[in-house]
Amino acid sequence: MTRLRLVETGEQPGEEKFQWSLRPVRLTDYIGQKDLLVRLEISLKAARMRGEPLDHVLLYGPPGLGKTTLAHIISNEMDANIICTSGPAIERSGDLMGILTNLQLADVLFIDEIHRLPRPVEEFLYSAMEDFKIDFIVDKGPFAKTIKVNIKQFTLVGATTRAGLLSAPLRDRFGIIYHVDFYTPEELCEIIKRSSQILKIPLDEKGAFEIARRSRGTPRISNRLLRRVRDYAEVLGGGTIDEETAVKALELEGIDALGLDALDIAYLKTIIEKYKGGPAGVDAIAATLNEEAGTLQDMVEPYLLKTGFVNRTPAGRKVSHSAFKHLGYEIPD
Ligand code: ADE
Repeated sequence: MTRLRLVETGEQPGEEKFQWSLRPVRLTDYIGQKDLLVRLEISLKAARMRGEPLDHVLLYGPPGLGKTTLAHIISNEMDANIICTSGPAIERSGDLMGILTNLQLADVLFIDEIHRLPRPVEEFLYSAMEDFKIDFIVDKGPFAKTIKVNIKQFTLVGATTRAGLLSAPLRDRFGIIYHVDFYTPEELCEIIKRSSQILKIPLDEKGAFEIARRSRGTPRISNRLLRRVRDYAEVLGGGTIDEETAVKALELEGIDALGLDALDIAYLKTIIEKYKGGPAGVDAIAATLNEEAGTLQDMVEPYLLKTGFVNRTPAGRKVSHSAFKHLGYEIPD
C-alpha cells in the first residue's frame, strides 16, 4: 500500500522548490550537526590554504537530514561548481566518463544514493578518485586498448542512507566520512524559527517548539509541518503560530506529541496486540499491516528505533515499555 505521509522523510512531489528556498547556503547559516561542522570547517580551511580540492567526502545517515545541503555548502565554501547525480541515474561507465572529463579543478561531484551505483561504474570510479585518471577504451574486440586519461582534481561527495551497503573498496577511497545524525528538538526549533523568518510567518517560541518535537529529528519534516500549521493558523487561528494552534493543527493531521503518525502507531499496536510486544519478525508485521517489509525498514523503524520504542533483537522486533506507556497500554510483566 502506498500512502503519502506528512512525516515522510523523503522529499514529496511539489515541495522541492519550497524546501530548496529554506536550505542554508553557507556553513554559518547551518544549524545543528555541530561536531560534523567543526571538522568540516577545518578540512575546508586547510584545503583552501593549500589551494587543493577537499578530500572525497562520504555522508551517511537517514534521509532528510541535510546531506544534499552539505554537498552544496561544500561547493559554495570552495567557490567551486557542483554537479549532482545519483547512483541509479548512472547506468554505464560512459555516463560517468562524460561527467568526469568535464569537471574543473576542485569541482564537487555529488552522487546521492551512492550505494546504488552499478558495480562496473563503481569500479570505474576507483582510479578517478585515487589518481584522477580514467581508463578510456578505444576500439573494439581484439584491437581494444585502454588509454589513461587525466582528469582535473575534483571532490566526490557521496551520500547514502545505508553505509553498510557500500563496498569496502569504495568506502576506503573517501578521506572524510561523516555520520549525519538526527537533530535535537532545540536545534529543530532554531531551524523552524529561521524558516519562519524567510517565509515571513509569525511564530512564537512555544509554537516553534511544538512543531520541533513532532518533527522526528528531521528538518525536512519540520519545514513541511511549519507550512501545514501556517495554513491552519491563517484560516482558524489569528495568523500567528503559537502553542495552541500548533498542537491543534498537528493533532488534526494525525501527528501525535512525539511525531508518530497513524502508520507508526499501527506498527506498534500490531506488535503489542498480535505478538504480545514481540519479538516479531519484520515480514510478519508487514504482512499484518499489508505493507512491504522494506517500507517498514526504511520509513517506520528508523525513528522508532531512535526513540527507543522498538528494539531489534536476533529473534525480531520488540516494543519497549516506553511505547506501551506512550500508547496507553498496561506494561506487561
Ligand atoms: N533548513 C533545513 N535544514 C537546515 C539546517 N540544518 N540549518 C538551517 N536551516 C535548515
